[in-house]
Amino acid sequence: MAEIIGKVLFTEEQIRQRAKELGEQIARDYEGEEIYLIGTLKGGIVWMADIMKAIPNDTKIDFICASSYGSGTSTTGVVKIKKDVEADLFNKNVIIIEDIVDTGTTLKFIKSYLAERNPKSVKICTLLDKPSRRLCDVQADYIGFEIDNLFVVGYGLDYDQKYRNLPYVGYIEG
Ligand code: IMP
Ligand code: MG
Repeated sequence: MAEIIGKVLFTEEQIRQRAKELGEQIARDYEGEEIYLIGTLKGGIVWMADIMKAIPNDTKIDFICASSYGSGTSTTGVVKIKKDVEADLFNKNVIIIEDIVDTGTTLKFIKSYLAERNPKSVKICTLLDKPSRRLCDVQADYIGFEIDNLFVVGYGLDYDQKYRNLPYVGYIEG
C-alpha cells in the first residue's frame, strides 16, 4: 500500500457513501431508462467503478480519453481525443464520469463532442469540482464533492501519472 500523501481530504468510505447517494439520485432521474456511462481515462475509472455499482438501472459502459494542451489558465486550451468511444450513442442517455472539473476545458469539449452523436441526453457526474478555477461555462449535474483550489491526488487522480492507486483523495501541500 502506498504511503499517505499530503492530507487526506476524502476517505474511501466517504467517497463510496457519496457514490451511493448519487446513484440513488441518478436512479430517480432516469427511472426505467437505460444509461450509457462514459468514463474519462485515466482519472475517472476509480470513481466510475463506485458509481456504476450504485446505479440499479440497465447500464452500459464505454471510455473516452482526451487531453488538453496549451496554457492551463487560458480559455483557448486545445483538447485532443486520444481514444474515442466505440459505442453507438444515438438516442442514449449518456452520463460522462469524470474525476475532477477544474477549468472545465476538457469536459466542455467532451460534452459537445459526444453531443454530436445525437444522444437522447448528456449529463456529467464528477467526483470533484473546483468551481473557483472555472474558465469555461460547463457545469456538472452530479458532484461528489466541491473543493477549494487544491492539487489533489488519489482515487484515480495523478501527479505526473503517480498516486492514482491511492484509496483516498489527498492533497499535496505546496
Ligand atoms: P480541466 O480541463 O482544466 O477542467 O482539467 C481537467 C483535468 O485536469 C482533470 O481531468 C485532471 O486530469 C486534471 N486535474 C485538474 N486538477 C487536478 C488536480 O487537482 N489533481 C490532479 N489532476 C487534476
Ligand atoms: Mg482527467
